[in-house]
Amino acid sequence: MTERQRPPAEELYTEELANLARQDRGPKPPGWRLSPQAIRSFIMGDEKLGIRAKIVGQSSLRCLVTLATNRGLMLVGEPGTAKSLLSELLAAAICGTSTLTIQGSAATTEDQIRYSWNYALLLAEGPTPKALVPAPLYHAMKRGQLCRFEEITRCPLEVQDTLLSVLSDRVLAVPELPGEDGLVFATQGFNLIATANTRDRGVNEMSAALKRRFNFETVFPIDDLKTELALVKRESERWLKNSGVPEPLADDVLEVLVTTFRELRAGLTESGDATDRLSTPMSTAEAVSVAISVGVRAHFLRQDVANPADVVECLVGAAVKDNSEDRVKLKRYFEQRVSKRKGAHWKAFFDARKVLEK
Ligand SMILES: Nc1ncnc2c1ncn2[C@@H]1O[C@H](COP(=O)(O)OP(=O)(O)OP(=O)(O)O)[C@@H](O)[C@H]1O
Ligand SMILES: [Mg+2]
Repeated sequence: MTERQRPPAEELYTEELANLARQDRGPKPPGWRLSPQAIRSFIMGDEKLGIRAKIVGQSSLRCLVTLATNRGLMLVGEPGTAKSLLSELLAAAICGTSTLTIQGSAATTEDQIRYSWNYALLLAEGPTPKALVPAPLYHAMKRGQLCRFEEITRCPLEVQDTLLSVLSDRVLAVPELPGEDGLVFATQGFNLIATANTRDRGVNEMSAALKRRFNFETVFPIDDLKTELALVKRESERWLKNSGVPEPLADDVLEVLVTTFRELRAGLTESGDATDRLSTPMSTAEAVSVAISVGVRAHFLRQDVANPADVVECLVGAAVKDNSEDRVKLKRYFEQRVSKRKGAHWKAFFDARKVLEK
C-alpha cells in the first residue's frame, strides 16, 4: 500500500483513542466519544496511561469546556503555535474525525462552507436532496461532529457571517428545498472550532455578532527552552525518518537552532539581554521545518550528519522572507550575540555566518 505522507490524527492515533475509550469512566457530553478527562490525557499526555503529550506547554481544558457548550471555539495566536494541530486533535478525539475542515481564504465562498449543487442533477431534476452536495458544515451538523474552520479571518466578512444563524439557532436553512429537507438541524455533538492567526488579518474586523458566538482562546508560543528543544527534537526526528534520513540532529545542533529561533522571536536572549526581533514570525513550527531541512541537507547533499553550518544555510530562507531589514538584523545578531557564546558548536555557527552575505 502507498503510505500517506501525513495521516489525520484519528488514523495516526487509532489505537490510543480506542484504548482510552475502553478505559474511559468519566461523564461524556452528549454526542462525544470520550469524556473531557480522557481527551485531556490524549492531548496533554498521561504518564500512567503511557500516552505522550501531543501539545506541550498549553492547556486544552478551557477549549474542552467551550466545545461542550453552545458556543464555538476560536483559537487565536501567532503563526506556528499549533492552533491547527490542537483543533485537529480535539476534533479527532471528540467525534472521531478531523477532516470536516474548511480552509479559509480570500476566495472562500458560502458554497464551500454549507452546500453546493450537482448542476447536472439540478438541471435534470430541479433542487432535490440528491442534487445537493454537502460541504463540511452541513455534514458536521447532520452527523453531530465537529467542523473545523481554518484561518477564518482570511475570508470575506459576509462569508464569515454565514455562521451566525448556525451558531445561535443550530439550524442551517436550504431555501431551495421544500419542507423538512429545507432545514438541517444540528445533532448532538456538533460544534465549530475556528483558528485565526494574529499576523495575517487579525480578528478585529470580524463582526461583533460573530465574535459573541465564540469563546476565544489565545495560544501562546512555548515559553521555556527545554520544552521547545524537546519538542523540536521529537518532531524533527519523526519527520526525518519519514523523509529517509536515518540520523536525527545532534543535541548541540538543535540547541543552536532552537535558541536562535527563540531569541529572534522574542527580541531577548536567554540571559535576558535585548536583541533585534525579526519581522518574520520565528515560530516553533518553523523551527521544526528548519530542523528537518538541516537534516535533509546534510544527508542528501553530503551523506553526513548535520552541523551548525547547515543551520545557518537553512535559517536564512526561514528568517529572511519579505523584509530585507531582517537580513541586517540577523547579521547583527550573529556579530553581537552568537560571537560571545561559548562552545565549539556556537563557534562553528558563528564561523558559517558568511552565508548571510549571499
Ligand atoms: N505547543 C506546541 N505543542 C506541540 N507542537 C507544537 C507547539 N507549538 C508548535 N508546535 C509545532 O508546530 C506544528 C503545528 O503547527 P500548526 O500548523 O498547528 O500551527 P498554527 O498555529 O496553526 O500555525 P498557522 O497560524 O501558521 O496556521 C506542530 O506539528 C509542532 O511541530
Ligand atoms: Mg494553522
